[in-house]
Amino acid sequence: MATYDALGTTYARTRQPDSRIAAQIHAALGNVTDVINVGAGTGSYEPPRTVLAIEPSQVMIAQRPQRSAPAVQAVAENLPLRDNAADAVMALLTVHHWTDLTAGISELRRVARSRIVILTWDQHIFRERFWLVRDYLPEAAAFDDARAIPTDHLLDLLGGGRQEPVWVPHDCTDGFGAAYWRRPHAYLDPQVRAGISMLAQTSEDTITPGLTQLADDLRTNRWHTRHAELLALETIDVGYRLLVTDH
Ligand SMILES: C[S@@+](CC[C@H](N)C(=O)[O-])C[C@H]1O[C@@H](n2cnc3c(N)ncnc32)[C@H](O)[C@@H]1O
Repeated sequence: MATYDALGTTYARTRQPDSRIAAQIHAALGNVTDVINVGAGTGSYEPPRTVLAIEPSQVMIAQRPQRSAPAVQAVAENLPLRDNAADAVMALLTVHHWTDLTAGISELRRVARSRIVILTWDQHIFRERFWLVRDYLPEAAAFDDARAIPTDHLLDLLGGGRQEPVWVPHDCTDGFGAAYWRRPHAYLDPQVRAGISMLAQTSEDTITPGLTQLADDLRTNRWHTRHAELLALETIDVGYRLLVTDH
């Protein structure tokens, strides 16, 4: 069973694509003619030129909007596609889930004619700048330490490329890990946590003490006092990165 058959049942509810991040991803894709989305999930951020989605979880495929690109149930490590199948391939917030990263990236390079776009995050920056994992849930950060992929390593596997920061708006509609950086109460909501794999895959027992502390700090306004500067910000860079490579 694919991991997201269990994790992804409420994905479409809390993980709506954010228009500002979509604009950045689409700009990074440029004017390529066709796009294949690998680790596509429910289809977030697919531009109209998307011709195919690759996704191992049937639960995620079932949540794709009607009229989105056709989806094939498969994994990145073994793409059922010919060489140079599309102008561009994108893989968004997925590479950390793959069982064989080297094989998966090599498949992306085989299938993409000209451009690959990957959305991932820099775990060092994330750990340092994101208050939730730094101050309350170090266990969740430790879980991510084990699976996060250094962006330099990814760029090596890709054969080079550039990386750009993806700033997270305070009202981000895509409820990934740090999306609620200025809406701390959201992390107390089990449905929100279910859409964030670092929290959904760390046991409730492990994260309960940190969440209890957060609830207390919110109730007493300690969180607001400590993070007053965050409340004045519109966007934040906590380490999300877009990698763009041409070949
Ligand atoms: C956090 S979701 C991201 C989905 C989508 N790209 C998005 O941005 O909303 C991670 C996705 O990666 C998929 N995935 C897990 N292992 C995979 C693999 N080996 N190959 C391709 N996709 C995989 C999961 O099933 C899940 O749909």
